Amino acid sequence: MLFKQQALLRQKLFVLGSLAIGSLLYLVARVGSLDRLQPICPIDGRFRSHGQDEIPLRALQFKRGLLHEFRKGNASKEQIRLHNLVQQLPKAIIIGVRKGGTRALLEMLNLHPAVVKASQEIHFFDNDENYAKGIEWYRKKMPFSYPHQITIEKSPAYFITEEVPERIYKMNSSIKLLIIVREPTTRAISDYTQVLEGKERKNKTYYKFEKLAIDPNTCEVNTKYKAVRTSIYTKHLERWLKYFPIEQFHIVDGDRLITEPLPELQLVEKFLNLPPRISQYNLYFNATRGFYCLRFNIVFNKCLAGSKGRIHPEVDSSVITKLRKFFHPFNQKFYQITGRTFNWP
Ligand code: A3P
Repeated sequence: MLFKQQALLRQKLFVLGSLAIGSLLYLVARVGSLDRLQPICPIDGRFRSHGQDEIPLRALQFKRGLLHEFRKGNASKEQIRLHNLVQQLPKAIIIGVRKGGTRALLEMLNLHPAVVKASQEIHFFDNDENYAKGIEWYRKKMPFSYPHQITIEKSPAYFITEEVPERIYKMNSSIKLLIIVREPTTRAISDYTQVLEGKERKNKTYYKFEKLAIDPNTCEVNTKYKAVRTSIYTKHLERWLKYFPIEQFHIVDGDRLITEPLPELQLVEKFLNLPPRISQYNLYFNATRGFYCLRFNIVFNKCLAGSKGRIHPEVDSSVITKLRKFFHPFNQKFYQITGRTFNWP
């Protein structure tokens, strides 16, 4: 009798357990598939009457789905047409600064349902050959998006290239411009590290950072060295200000984006007039990588590629001091122009 009761209980527990596991699996699959499957953006134009700056929250929920399928080659041209997907010129561009954290910024902004990123650096405005291909060529390089989403591209070379401000101005004089900066000496060393890695890969010999950054004849900072010049942020910004008012720029603190990304992203959301949708849930610290990684939903997350977050070579402390002293007055001017103060040494 007792044996029979125990068997019955085991059977009941088995059924209940199976039901619980089944529901859990269903939930996981459902939430995961929200990203890739339907529902698809409403196609009846209900959201079309909103102003440019206003993004209807309901439309935001449908960000991925079809876009994702299209990128994977699974959505037909007919679906694209039906769902009103378009390739839009960017409403905001991350113009630099190289090694400031431009990739991290773009990927993190892409967590926002109203943002669609151009994955590749397009180099339209800084490359004469590309620029000669015309604006339609540029637009066709953009990802598909719903009309109420905004496209963002990043090409860090834009910040330092002479012709770019005027060219962007001609495309859209009210475009929003994002600049992500890091402490200038650290940025210069990061820049050097990237070039060094490239040289090493090609089995080429390369100079030490100290030798490049300091002119051996004068013992002064070598302003001909590109990694140094790029870090003189104010010089470049001044060229941009001939075309765009300062209100059209937003400066992102690249050092803070590494350690505390959410508040920096929230400031960008505000600048772009986006409803606040990126949350702490979307960002988790990965101890192995030593950086924050991205969580889109419970099944899809990713860290940036290994080329982001390289170990920098040791640099002579006197060279670091010299560089910091050199950048100091330029930094002060940068704070003054942008209205954002960084505690760079
Ligand atoms: P280091 O390689 O010097 O550490 P960019 O994308 O403009 O080339 O910038 C690269 C820098 O982004 C890296 O420089 C890294 O420090 C920084 N970064 C910021 N957030 C990051 C993240 N979540 N994962 C990896 N790198 C990140």
